[in-house]
Amino acid sequence: MRDQIVAGNWKMNNDQNETQTLLNALKSHSKPKNVRVMVAPSFTQLSQSVSLLGDDVITVAAQNVNAAASGAYTGEVSVSMLKGVGVETVILGHSERRSLYHENNASLANKVNTSIESGMEIVFCFGEQLEERKSNRHFDVVKEQLSEALFSLSAASWSQVVLAYEPVWAIGTGETASPDQAQEMHAFIRNLIQEKYTENLAQEVAILYGGSVKPGNAKEIFSMEDVDGGLIGGASLNADDFMAIVNAF
Ligand code: PGA
Repeated sequence: MRDQIVAGNWKMNNDQNETQTLLNALKSHSKPKNVRVMVAPSFTQLSQSVSLLGDDVITVAAQNVNAAASGAYTGEVSVSMLKGVGVETVILGHSERRSLYHENNASLANKVNTSIESGMEIVFCFGEQLEERKSNRHFDVVKEQLSEALFSLSAASWSQVVLAYEPVWAIGTGETASPDQAQEMHAFIRNLIQEKYTENLAQEVAILYGGSVKPGNAKEIFSMEDVDGGLIGGASLNADDFMAIVNAF
């Protein structure tokens, strides 16, 4: 049975006070036993979030990490720094990192390898742009993103991998992939993993959908066979909305 996961990507939102308010609100909600819940605050709020959440079931992820262990990389953060504040999961490859900070499949492969070798769990994001879908290249694009960044991992390493399919045209736009479009792509992804590795491994990997998931559409999307949860941006900033999504399975 695959994990069901809902992860909140806070992006560059929530300072110290806002983090405290939101996390206290999230703590006060009861959570379903069968869903893993994560939040991804900014680097500066990671330590605060880990200590505030204490033994709550919600865990803390980072939004990015550098591929190097240490050194002259001004403004960057390493895996050991994340682990040092109790963070064991990192989001990699978000479309905003790709488009605004020029991350690509090759640089992401380095981040993936460093993170996996250091024992981190990764939530690996990928997905096509609008033009790529319109010209029917979305399957090729996704195949390339996964092959170049992830397919040199050993089969054993995949226990540390969560996938997040996020069509770029659906992120922050209010436009969601239809449940059928999400299912079609998730089944395609699972099939790619099966071809490269094994059917068992393909069945074990959690594949999240991301892009304008809201309380009103989460249930329908999560009900699709190959959709194992969501990576939530905007709606993760509101405790009631986020918990409604967590409870939408
Ligand atoms: P959104 O963002 O839910 O605001 O569309 C999703 C994401 O960027 O992960």
